[in-house]
Amino acid sequence: MNRPTLEGLRLNVPAYVEHTRLIDWVAQVAALTEAADVHWCDGSEAEQQQLTERLAAAGTLMKLNPLKRPRSFLARSAASDVARVEDRTYICSANQEDAGPTNNWIAPAAMRERLQTGSPDGTPALFKGAMKGRTMYVVPFSMGPLGSPIAHIGVELTDSPYVVVSMRTMTRMGRRALDVLGADGDFVPCVHSVGAPLQPGTDGQIRDVPWPCNDTKYIVHYPETREIWSYGSGYGGNALLGKKCFALRIASTMGRQAVQADGVGWLAEHMLILGVTNPQGRKYHVAAAFPSACGKTNFSMMVPPAGYNGWKVTTIGDDIAWIKPGVDGRLYAINPEAGYFGVAPGTNHHTNPNCMDSLQSDVIFTNVALTDDGDVWWEGMTDTPPAHLIDWQGRDWTPAIAQQAAGPDGKPRPAAHPNARFTVSATQNPVLDPQWDNPAGVALDAFIFGGRRSTTVPLVTEARTWVEGVYMAATMGSETTAAMAGGNGAVRRDPFAMLPFTGYNMADYFQHWLGLGDKLAAAGAKLPRIYCVNWFRKAQSGEMSGKFVWPGYGENMRVLEWMIGRLEGRAGGSDNVFGISPRYDDLRWDGLAFTRDQFASVVGIDKAAWQQELVLHTELFNQLEHHLPPELPATQAQIHERLAAL
Ligand code: GTP
Ligand code: SPV
Ligand code: MN
Repeated sequence: MNRPTLEGLRLNVPAYVEHTRLIDWVAQVAALTEAADVHWCDGSEAEQQQLTERLAAAGTLMKLNPLKRPRSFLARSAASDVARVEDRTYICSANQEDAGPTNNWIAPAAMRERLQTGSPDGTPALFKGAMKGRTMYVVPFSMGPLGSPIAHIGVELTDSPYVVVSMRTMTRMGRRALDVLGADGDFVPCVHSVGAPLQPGTDGQIRDVPWPCNDTKYIVHYPETREIWSYGSGYGGNALLGKKCFALRIASTMGRQAVQADGVGWLAEHMLILGVTNPQGRKYHVAAAFPSACGKTNFSMMVPPAGYNGWKVTTIGDDIAWIKPGVDGRLYAINPEAGYFGVAPGTNHHTNPNCMDSLQSDVIFTNVALTDDGDVWWEGMTDTPPAHLIDWQGRDWTPAIAQQAAGPDGKPRPAAHPNARFTVSATQNPVLDPQWDNPAGVALDAFIFGGRRSTTVPLVTEARTWVEGVYMAATMGSETTAAMAGGNGAVRRDPFAMLPFTGYNMADYFQHWLGLGDKLAAAGAKLPRIYCVNWFRKAQSGEMSGKFVWPGYGENMRVLEWMIGRLEGRAGGSDNVFGISPRYDDLRWDGLAFTRDQFASVVGIDKAAWQQELVLHTELFNQLEHHLPPELPATQAQIHERLAAL
């Protein structure tokens, strides 16, 4: 076989690689980026060890105390590289209209000049020489069970070994993915550089930093050619390109495009997938979309409260679902990922014991605090913080220092970054669902959509129809969180929890959901029911003022049980302006002191607040006017009428 080599650079193609298109592309990117070496990742344990040792030597990873956290590491990112950068994320479709008004857009040719080819005025391309002095890793991965008809293969070229070791946990990575690809299988090409070429200084020495990155960042998607180019960041969804870039932005466009082939298409969603089994042994599957840092990981591994003997919740996925109609017309969901990149702060043995148990060993923590005995800590892990820590930026931290450094809001400076995360294999989850790796997926019984709203939106509402459910999801609002750079708690519309993740026009996305429902219903299929939840209403007055009224976490089981009761035709409820909510006596309360008044304050519909809310829905519809499905404003008109009658 022809194995191209570049002048001065060996591509090091292993003998088992037979995919000529892949080799050619690796050669092209190595030439463009001027990488010093190329390493093809086989995904082996030995490779992982070698890379973690290299990262430890470079100061990127710090080995934690093996007696406390065996085989676990702490990474501290640059302070400027701590979350997804939505304002630097682009959907470069040929037509701007196909990206739609909610995505950043630059014409593909103009973006390619910036990133790949350089401008006619002589401005060099950002990727030109970007990997100088660094190894370029070839990271083949499968999103979804290997060989599953629902799965897809990607190959990420990256100059970040931190990304490589993370991708090994988050995906099915290495030689086994290349085996699936064979000699000419299709793959999504993903190019990633931290944008920090290594060059000798004046003294001839080459110096690296523990977390190389660049102030200029670009997270770019070309949906037509299904390519991803990411520059300047080493963090999370900016850099682990299988996750948000591929499994949501590119995959959502693939799912819609598939309509042309089979008339229905499929869905790529920002959803957890869970199984819930009742004491009679009947199992249901639920997919739930909450915006970033709004409780997906927690909900997917929930421990039902005392009094729920015989109930069990099991995890299929905690962040992303790929959902396709089966031959029986039901919707089947798989988790394309193989690990969890989860929010650390707020996680503890009370709020999420299964998650804490998953984190006992073999974890990479990023931006959490380091304890004096070489373990980790974050806000909310324990009621009382340790007397001394090293914070996520490597500084001494004590409660007194934290108080002195309090921000304008008076809150002490946190020891862990609010978007500090853990990377851990799904197989460490004690409640991993036995079906989690099933290539066929699990049949869904319900969808849940939920935002983080301190007012207005009730604890739970059931949509009466598919269209009403799509309306709820489309108009969802949520307070922004630390998972996005600049997230400051302001409420924004986050349709389907997909605002930063839909790879095409959001109005077309609404239509895709409506069309899918129509076609499946026309074929006689039973569609999943749709629910809207809000765990985050806060008390507006009294001694609890400003605090969450609903206890949340495991207590969310009460809401889940109500949904299942509805599916089985048992549970009651009453109509509100936009769906059906439970009355106090429709939920089970044993083991929880939650008064009728408290309940009223989390389900109540405030007429004035809802009138204001509908104004925000209208703003969204105005923004998405082009291609907006008429069913949505029609549904809004009905809500208006019911509200006026209150
Ligand atoms: P991404 O990984 O960013 O997509 O987020 P996620 O939706 O998986 O978020 P996660 O489950 O990690 O939760 C993030 C934060 O929400 C944590 O600080 C939790 O403590 C908090 N949280 C989760 N569930 C609940 C709940 O039921 N009630 C309240 N009040 N907080 C919750
Ligand atoms: C999110 O922000 O929704 C995440 C974390 O799940 S990241 O992988 O950084 O996108
Ligand atoms: Mn997410």
